[in-house]
Amino acid sequence: MSNYKRATLEEEDVSEVPGDTASSPDRVEVGFRKGGIDVLGRRTRLEVLLLVLLLVTLLALLACLLVLGLRFHSESGRGICLSEACITVASQMVEAMDRSADPCHDFYQFACGGWMRKNPLPDGRSHWSTFNSIGEQNQALLKHLLENGTFNSSSEAEKKAQFYYLSCLNTQKIEELGAKPLTELIAKIGGWSITDPWDKDNFMEVLKVVSGPYRAQPFFSVGVSADPKNSNSNIIQVNQSFEEPQICRGPTPKVLVAYLDYMVELGTLLGGEKGSTHLQMQQILDFEKALANITVPQDQRRDEEKIYHKVSVAELQLLAPAVDWLEYLSSSLSPLDLNDTEPVVLYAREYLQQVSDLINKTDRSLLNNYMIWTLVQKTVASLDQRFENAQDKLLESLIGTKKSCTPRWQTCIENTDDTLGFALGALFVKATFDKKSKDIAEEMIDEIRSAFKEALDRLGWMDGTTRQAAKEKADAIYDMIGFPEFILDPKELDDVYDGYEVSDESFFQNMLNFYNFSSRVMADQLRKPPNKDQWSMTPPTVNAYYMPTKNGIVFPAGILQAPFYAHDHPKALNFGGIGVVMGHELTHAFDDQGREYDKEGNLRPWWQNSSVEAFRERTECMVDQYSQYLVNTEHVNGKQTLGENIADNGGLKAAYHAYQSWVWKNGEEKRLPAINLTNDQLFFVGFAQVWCSVRTPESAHEGLVTDAHSPPRYRVIGTLANFPEFSQHFHCPVGTPMNTGKRCEVW
Ligand SMILES: *[C@@H]1O[C@H](CO)[C@@H](O)[C@H](O)[C@H]1NC(C)=O
Ligand SMILES: *[C@@H]1O[C@H](CO)[C@@H](O)[C@H](O)[C@H]1NC(C)=O
Ligand SMILES: *[C@@H]1O[C@H](CO)[C@@H](O)[C@H](O)[C@H]1NC(C)=O
Ligand SMILES: *[C@@H]1O[C@H](CO)[C@@H](O)[C@H](O)[C@H]1NC(C)=O
Ligand SMILES: *[C@@H]1O[C@H](CO)[C@@H](O)[C@H](O)[C@H]1NC(C)=O
Ligand SMILES: *[C@@H]1O[C@H](CO)[C@@H](O)[C@H](O)[C@H]1NC(C)=O
Ligand SMILES: *[C@@H]1O[C@H](CO)[C@@H](O)[C@H](O)[C@H]1NC(C)=O
Ligand SMILES: *[C@@H]1O[C@H](CO)[C@@H](O)[C@H](O)[C@H]1NC(C)=O
Ligand SMILES: *[C@@H]1O[C@H](CO)[C@@H](O)[C@H](O)[C@H]1NC(C)=O
Ligand SMILES: [Zn+2]
Repeated sequence: MSNYKRATLEEEDVSEVPGDTASSPDRVEVGFRKGGIDVLGRRTRLEVLLLVLLLVTLLALLACLLVLGLRFHSESGRGICLSEACITVASQMVEAMDRSADPCHDFYQFACGGWMRKNPLPDGRSHWSTFNSIGEQNQALLKHLLENGTFNSSSEAEKKAQFYYLSCLNTQKIEELGAKPLTELIAKIGGWSITDPWDKDNFMEVLKVVSGPYRAQPFFSVGVSADPKNSNSNIIQVNQSFEEPQICRGPTPKVLVAYLDYMVELGTLLGGEKGSTHLQMQQILDFEKALANITVPQDQRRDEEKIYHKVSVAELQLLAPAVDWLEYLSSSLSPLDLNDTEPVVLYAREYLQQVSDLINKTDRSLLNNYMIWTLVQKTVASLDQRFENAQDKLLESLIGTKKSCTPRWQTCIENTDDTLGFALGALFVKATFDKKSKDIAEEMIDEIRSAFKEALDRLGWMDGTTRQAAKEKADAIYDMIGFPEFILDPKELDDVYDGYEVSDESFFQNMLNFYNFSSRVMADQLRKPPNKDQWSMTPPTVNAYYMPTKNGIVFPAGILQAPFYAHDHPKALNFGGIGVVMGHELTHAFDDQGREYDKEGNLRPWWQNSSVEAFRERTECMVDQYSQYLVNTEHVNGKQTLGENIADNGGLKAAYHAYQSWVWKNGEEKRLPAINLTNDQLFFVGFAQVWCSVRTPESAHEGLVTDAHSPPRYRVIGTLANFPEFSQHFHCPVGTPMNTGKRCEVW
């Protein structure tokens, strides 16, 4: 199952974040996503749904206006905001709330109960949230831009994005080709005993080609990015690559049965005979179980000081002799000239040792079967409908989707974003992004940074020297907002995608070309210093991240919109929305992982030991707190989610205090009509409503096992229960679930 997530689950997975891919090895390449079907039927349903929504909103608006009209004399003098924006947002918020719930008992229900009732899971989705709906709006806009017949691009790169998109939409061609593009590729690489007799001694050849130009990751992953201990230079990094060890390890036979069925189905679609395919796929699955067995789980890998090991290629060769590393790395990074002294950072030293032993004692036919299988998973989403159906079946048991109804265009926008996301981003930004947003966001970040630093002064557990260094680190945090400048310069944008060949003919070939292109981009980076302008998220993305080696925070244009931010919304909502996201990313610089990096982005101890001790105690409190939370009888993993929980708590606190300072400077702002909340209360409700979401039990389980974030419900409840100002403004007595009498505070 090693590449499974990368190949298909991303759509279901990361986007609900503020969550940060700390150091993703391939930057241009984000990975491929699941495909979809059924364009027309779905589209009309969507339209109907939108219409109904519009109507409901209009009615609500009318009702609000009526109520307001009646109360006009009593409240008009007391500062109620009656602008169209205020009325609209108030009516949306009221609808999302469940006023019958007690805010001190279950604030998530209070803030999101109405939303959850009115937003059943859309067909084909395993979960749904505010993030997804903004994401879909962004996609719809991009569709409109790319499908314009008289599309006038200012750069070659934008044209490539359009060609790529159109090749993906061309299902007729894709159906015509069937499995052929992949079976031909497999034959070219040397064959697969699932589909043909195979008896070769070509382990290194296959490993090189599968993980080089095709970027699959059997056994381990190789990337090039900033050296954590010397963040001004890039370095080769080798890591374990198996994504979901818990699923393979845990007692979830239902999922394993579905996975084996899926493997057999793909094998037979590619030409394998049923019986022998079943037999061999079972062997591959057993091999993956063995890989899972040696893969170290996320929650034991959080201390990067401990897992970082810099060695030379020669040392790596002694450590893991089953692979000829110089040959392998030279091929992956061709045309670079490497030798035995080349430094490599290992993040999984014991794993590499063990995987080498495992390779050594495994039959080479099985090794070949497994390597080709990782390639199949990486590429299968670009084949015809039958492959798509097989994937849907697997997803159903893995994350509980009923039937995939993602319209093809949406899948194609996602794929285009994964490959040519910055070209797509140029179109997106030109169509929607208001330049003023950049200044406004900068200003908010500064307000939140100040609030964070002031809170540092009040922390009793930290010694003075470390406190001073922490302030300096906070000041040094570099921010990137909206999009990287280069995308608006056609020449610079074209340079980034120079050498990537795209045609509107073959989707499959476009994808292969992209993998090959991204491997060359990777090689190209090794001898250059890390580029500050390089973003790991594309401009339309509804998300944000912190990059420890750059000590930088990044907010793509996609997240700088309602409900996170709107210039005509009350500040209470903007601080509760994008303000908390900003505080969250900022706090990542000081979570259990981020704190190990200094202000220059180097992994180096810069804390006094006494404060390290106190920090550990403080974080233990949070590990325990979150570990007690339950999702359908399963516990949240408080260790796995620690960094995100620290960031959630610190982010809320900094944003709230920044809002307080804003009010102190500018005076109390007008209240929203009809909602009957003070502005402080509004801040908390606005914060919570960003996390309104629904998901299937399967997807909830999957999230618990793989996600570094707590489930949305506990991102709200956990943080607010730790925050005294919340209890104060909602008058929650000690002993209620939202004010338990025990609080954890790190930052
Ligand atoms: C297509 O793009 C052109 C300019 O590039 C624009 O003038 C036209 O309005 C667009 N058409 C549609 C249907 O959006
Ligand atoms: C396309 O854009 C270029 C400049 O970007 C402009 O000179 C040209 O007239 C445009 N063509 C059409 C058909 O809009
Ligand atoms: C190493 O791989 C694991 C997945 O197995 C991933 O969670 C982790 O972020 C990676 N670490 C680095 C430093 O790339
Ligand atoms: C997992 O590893 C342990 C030793 O570390 C070994 O005893 C066990 O057989 C392994 N299980 C599988 C399925 O490989
Ligand atoms: C190995 O390569 C480095 C540069 O990458 C070079 O400085 C060094 O001299 C080479 N060593 C040998 C033994 O060739
Ligand atoms: C396994 O390792 C041993 C000792 O290093 C070596 O002699 C042997 O050739 C290896 N076997 C395979 C199949 O690579
Ligand atoms: C990858 O691209 C390079 C340069 O364009 C080309 O020489 C090579 O044949 C390609 N490799 C594959 C496997 O397509
Ligand atoms: C701090 O702790 C580390 C590791 O526990 C130790 O190596 C170091 O000597 C300590 N430093 C001081 C100043 O005590
Ligand atoms: C508004 O809320 C307050 C306190 O929560 C409550 O006492 C009051 O009755 C509410 N007013 C209306 C009109 O609902
Ligand atoms: Zn985060």
